[in-house]
Amino acid sequence: MKHKGISNTAAYIAIKFYGLNLDPRIRPLFSEDLVHYYENLVQYLPSSLSWYHKTLVKPFWRKLFISTEELLLPGDLMHIICRKYYLQKATENALAEGVKQVVILGSGFDHTGALFSKNGVRTFEIDTPVMIQEKKAFLTQNNLMSQDLHLCPLDVNKNTLSETLTEIREFDPNKKTLVLAEGFFDYIPLKSARNILKELNSLLPDMTLSSTFFSLNELNFFYRTSFTWGVAMVGEAIKLPLSLNGFLDLLSDTGYRTDAVQSYHDMQEDLIKSAGLELPVLKGFYILRAVNL
Ligand SMILES: C[S@@+](CC[C@H](N)C(=O)[O-])C[C@H]1O[C@@H](n2cnc3c(N)ncnc32)[C@H](O)[C@@H]1O
Repeated sequence: MKHKGISNTAAYIAIKFYGLNLDPRIRPLFSEDLVHYYENLVQYLPSSLSWYHKTLVKPFWRKLFISTEELLLPGDLMHIICRKYYLQKATENALAEGVKQVVILGSGFDHTGALFSKNGVRTFEIDTPVMIQEKKAFLTQNNLMSQDLHLCPLDVNKNTLSETLTEIREFDPNKKTLVLAEGFFDYIPLKSARNILKELNSLLPDMTLSSTFFSLNELNFFYRTSFTWGVAMVGEAIKLPLSLNGFLDLLSDTGYRTDAVQSYHDMQEDLIKSAGLELPVLKGFYILRAVNL
C-alpha cells in the first residue's frame, strides 16, 4: 500500500518546517527551491497528513498550532528552523572546504540530498527501505532525481553501512566526506550508534560529522514526557539514553574529536534573535561537529 510504514517523525518535521516557512520572518532564511520542495512534499504525503498543506496557510490555524506546540513543548518549532538552517550552512561550508561527497544518515524527507545533488554534489541518503521507496517516488514525481543522488535502503540496526555504501560505484571512501546526522542518533539504540560511529570512522579516513543531539535530561519532567510521548504517539521511540556529556564521550570513545558544540542558547542568541522571532529554542538541543582522529 502506498505510504505504508513511513516515518511519521520525519513527516512531521517536514510539515512543521513547511508551516513555519509561511512566516515572512522565516522564509528569507531559506532558498525558494527549498521552500517549494517542502510545499510539494506536504501535498505528496498521505491524506492523513497532507491536509496540513491547505490548513497551515490560514493564519488562524497556524497560530493555534503554534500556541498548542509551545504549550506542550516550548522551543520544538524553533529547533526545527535551527537544525535546517545550521546544517544547510554546515554543508555549504564543508563543500567550500573541499568535501567531495555527502552521506546523510536517516535522511527522512529532508531536502539536502535532492537539492545539493541537483548542483552536482554527490550525495548518499541512508534510510529504511520503506522511507527510501517513498522518497524515490516523491522525488521522481517532482523531477528531483539526479545522477548524483544515491538513495540507499538500509536498516542500520540490521546491516552495515559499509556493505551498502561500498556497493555503489560512485562512492569513494578515500574522498573528503561530510556525514550528516539530523535527528538520527536519538532514534538508534546505543549499541547500534556505537557500531555506526566506529564503522564510519574506519570506512572514511577523512570525515567530518555534523550531528544534532537532544540531551533530554535537561528538560523538566513534564516537557521530557511531552517529548517522548509525542514521538511514541506517532509510533516511534527515542532510543539513545545519553546526556550531552554521554554523547560526547561516545564520540571520543569511537575515535572522534568534537570541534564545535552549538547549544540551543547559542542558536537562540544568533539566528532566532536576528530573525526577530520571539519563541525559544528547545532546551537540551545541540548541533555538534566532530572529525575522526
Ligand atoms: C526524526 S526522523 C529525521 C529525518 C530527517 N533527518 C530530518 O531531520 O528531517 C529520523 C529518520 O531516521 C530514520 N531511521 C530510524 N531508524 C532507522 C534505522 N534503523 N535505519 C535507517 N534509518 C532509520 C527514520 O526512518 C527517519 O527517516
